[in-house]
Amino acid sequence: MSGEIIDGKLIANYYREQLKEKISDLSTSGIVPGLAVILVGDNHASHTYVKMKRKACSKLGIHSELYQYDDGLTEDQLLDKIRELNNQDHIHGILVQLPLPKQINPITVIETISPSKDVDGFHPVSIGKMVTNQDTFYSCTPFGIMKMLEYENISIEGKHVVILGRSNIVGKPSGHLFLNRNATVTFCHSKTENIPYYTRQADILVSAVGKANLIDAGDIKEGAIVIDVGMNRDDEGNLCGDVNFSKVKEKASRITPVPGGVGPMTITMLLYNTVKSAEWALANRKNG
Ligand code: GUN
Repeated sequence: MSGEIIDGKLIANYYREQLKEKISDLSTSGIVPGLAVILVGDNHASHTYVKMKRKACSKLGIHSELYQYDDGLTEDQLLDKIRELNNQDHIHGILVQLPLPKQINPITVIETISPSKDVDGFHPVSIGKMVTNQDTFYSCTPFGIMKMLEYENISIEGKHVVILGRSNIVGKPSGHLFLNRNATVTFCHSKTENIPYYTRQADILVSAVGKANLIDAGDIKEGAIVIDVGMNRDDEGNLCGDVNFSKVKEKASRITPVPGGVGPMTITMLLYNTVKSAEWALANRKNG
């Protein structure tokens, strides 16, 4: 079997076109979705991600504002800025790019963002709602994976989904979103014994570890669906995922590439959440 490639770029464009229509509808009520992006310090990857996020906003007609600080910023200064943005009606989403310098506690920062503007889906209120299967902002990468599978008409109910990695941003929320769709979910992590024992049982395997060539053809079941969330560099310095793509592709039924798989979906879901927040703000205005 040679697996079909799930084209994240194409799917992301499909959802971005839908968002354009929603943005156009909002404009008839005088609303432009607005995203505030806070960037602290000089982490190179963070600067790149923020640039990509703001460019994607601009392409769709989402207003974005960048607040950039050097890494001497105090936690109090950052919290004051967030509180100010919480109170600004033209801002529907607040994104504080992680990681933050060590003097700033990311948990305090995330908890200071109003849950109504938590477009990253990191606030405990958003997470609690996700775990209890309520509508909320879902963390962008896990949500992007779900929307990708939805586009591909891949059924999830009753499937065994194995998640490699238990980060708060990807692994844990991905597991819960699959559980909400009636999958049987197994989490594997650095302390799991005999990881291949689990991965070989997966109907859908999600790898979010960050290690090139972690998954080889022998680690998966024939016909499995493989979702690669890894972002690594191979020996030649090329971007690659956690999965040995050329080998695993021969055994999987569907597989996401890196680049061009989950990555474009993550940013699309940030745009999606920002538009959704603007729609909620409008509905609240109308209701009272
Ligand atoms: N750092 C790495 N990924 C993310 C993300 O999705 N959101 C934020 N705010 N920071 C990140």
